[in-house]
Amino acid sequence: MMDLQKGNLFLTMLAKIKIFNGKKITIRPLLKKDLKLPEKFRKFINSLITENAQVAFNKKLSLKEERIFLKNTLSQIKKRFGVFIVAEHNKIVVGTASITLKGNRQNHVGEYGITVRKDYRGIGLGGYLTEEIIKLSQKQLKPTPKIIRLSVFSTNKPAINLYKKHGFKKVAEIPNQMEYNGKLVGETIMLLQL
Ligand SMILES: CC(C)(COP(=O)(O)OP(=O)(O)OC[C@H]1O[C@@H](n2cnc3c(N)ncnc32)[C@H](O)[C@@H]1OP(=O)(O)O)[C@@H](O)C(=O)NCCC(=O)NCCS
Repeated sequence: MMDLQKGNLFLTMLAKIKIFNGKKITIRPLLKKDLKLPEKFRKFINSLITENAQVAFNKKLSLKEERIFLKNTLSQIKKRFGVFIVAEHNKIVVGTASITLKGNRQNHVGEYGITVRKDYRGIGLGGYLTEEIIKLSQKQLKPTPKIIRLSVFSTNKPAINLYKKHGFKKVAEIPNQMEYNGKLVGETIMLLQL
């Protein structure tokens, strides 16, 4: 579903409401109005740090940093360099997914990222966001990415299973790339050819 966003000369998807485990969840693109509510996004991202999730970042964001992140992301969307979707339940951010072109000689490659809030995992939301963000990347990014690439802790079983289920193939494992709980763990690179 595509729509011309009011006041902006770029295409975006419309909001969709989907039921996951009885919860009515809104899936929508990141919007300019989100710049007014950085706290909502900051709480989401910082909840991953609090739970010690297997993600590459490990420092909580300040409100200023979150604002900068949202501003940069909106600017990438406007340039058709990135796509970013948000899942919300009762006005709380419960998941995000993004694909950003890698630029220059890697402009045919889109880097994919996904996170789902702890209490909302295992109900199909991550899988749905994965399919939606890939579809959106094919409609909206210029150039259209031919490869979707991701990096994941080699120990992150739930994420690796999700990626395999959606067609990603492991192409490399680089040892000792991530420091996690005082130990070094590997980084797995996976690709989806489109
Ligand atoms: C990885 C993550 C995004 C999965 O999202 P989710 O909403 O729980 O995933 P879904 O419910 O859609 O599950 C999709 C598939 O993922 C896999 N999966 C999800 N949770 C799993 C678990 N606890 N153990 C093993 N596999 C799991 C399964 O293959 C599942 O398919 P199935 O239900 O048919 O078995 C979520 O666990 C998360 O955000 N984790 C913390 C942040 C993170 O690790 N992000 C990825 C960084 S690279």
